[in-house]
Amino acid sequence: MTDKTILTVNNLALSYGSNPILKGVSMQLRRGEVVSLLGPSGSGKTTLLRAVAGLEQPHEGSVTIAGRSIYDAATGTDIPAEKRELGLVFQSYALWPHKTVFENVAYPLKLRKVARHEILQRVQEALKNLGLDQLAERYPHQLSGGQQQRVSIARALVYNPPVILLDEPLSNLDAKMREEARAWLRNLIVEMQLSALVVTHDQSEAMAMSDRILLLNGGVIEQQGVPQEMYSQPQTYFVADFMGSNNTMKGRISDIRGDSARVDLDNGISVWGLRRTNATIGQAVKAVIRVEQMRLADGPGEHRTEIELTTSMFLGDRFEYVFHAGCDLLRAWGKSQEAPGKRWLEFPPDAVWVF
Ligand SMILES: Nc1ncnc2c1ncn2[C@@H]1O[C@H](COP(=O)(O)OP(=O)(O)OP(=O)(O)O)[C@@H](O)[C@H]1O
Ligand SMILES: [Mg+2]
Repeated sequence: MTDKTILTVNNLALSYGSNPILKGVSMQLRRGEVVSLLGPSGSGKTTLLRAVAGLEQPHEGSVTIAGRSIYDAATGTDIPAEKRELGLVFQSYALWPHKTVFENVAYPLKLRKVARHEILQRVQEALKNLGLDQLAERYPHQLSGGQQQRVSIARALVYNPPVILLDEPLSNLDAKMREEARAWLRNLIVEMQLSALVVTHDQSEAMAMSDRILLLNGGVIEQQGVPQEMYSQPQTYFVADFMGSNNTMKGRISDIRGDSARVDLDNGISVWGLRRTNATIGQAVKAVIRVEQMRLADGPGEHRTEIELTTSMFLGDRFEYVFHAGCDLLRAWGKSQEAPGKRWLEFPPDAVWVF
């Protein structure tokens, strides 16, 4: 652990009954860092966050915050949730319906027996930081979804916890608001010099908001890294599949040269790609290429194949083309409307991964 580390989770394991949910998760959060916990539904994101918060009981591993052990199965250390000094924002906001905005935000300070005048001052400051100062006397049902979300964030930040944990903080907002809110939330976290662990199942949200991403798969961390790395250097098919829009084609390896492999695809095409598997010649593999890496070419050439274009759809900022190649439907993007018919498609070998 370096002195910049504010949260360390080591080999955390947790089961519900006989059902293992977290199977040895280790991660670190550095001071001032925003880390996203990404993964499909049921992969254990909320469970990990709740275990760190002290709301679920692991049976193995340890958690340390700012050098202080808050959970350690080996020594029996288990600091109760309210003494862990964490700011928590729940997926559902969990505001108290019969308390005003002011009272909701003041609650964590009251719980900690902070003096009245100090509560007044700190709540006013938190509300101001979040643009809520005009709404202090309202009740939750008198607020929009976005305003309720900001109240729940104000409540988590009001006592300056060293670490805040946010569970899908933007999930109740509509698509357009979400995009604005993610930039706003990241700025807020960075400006207030907080360290945050943010759960999301939306990969573009995770990439936009965070310094690092942890991708959880069935209770283990499948891969972690900075967003660019997660997107362009996936170590497994699961990561490639989760992080972007892909064409995935099945086939068998027919040649290997160094780090590259040729795959004879079930759809009749042969492609060269980067080897991300130990599979050898004759073995079944998947060839994966991001939709944005597929190129419409103007004629024959290396790594190009003639394929039937069946559909050209207008998406606003681009066109999406659908090609029929044997058993596969392949997608590509481009700038112009294209009529159906035969087209040359290029599969750049450095953009194809073989898993
Ligand atoms: N209280 C509980 N009792 C039994 N099983 C539970 C309980 N809470 C969660 N689980 C199970 O644990 C697994 C992980 O759940 P968790 O809520 O952590 O997933 P998640 O990654 O947050 O998913 P989502 O994206 O849907 O919120 C799921 O299979 C879920 O059914
Ligand atoms: Mg969840």
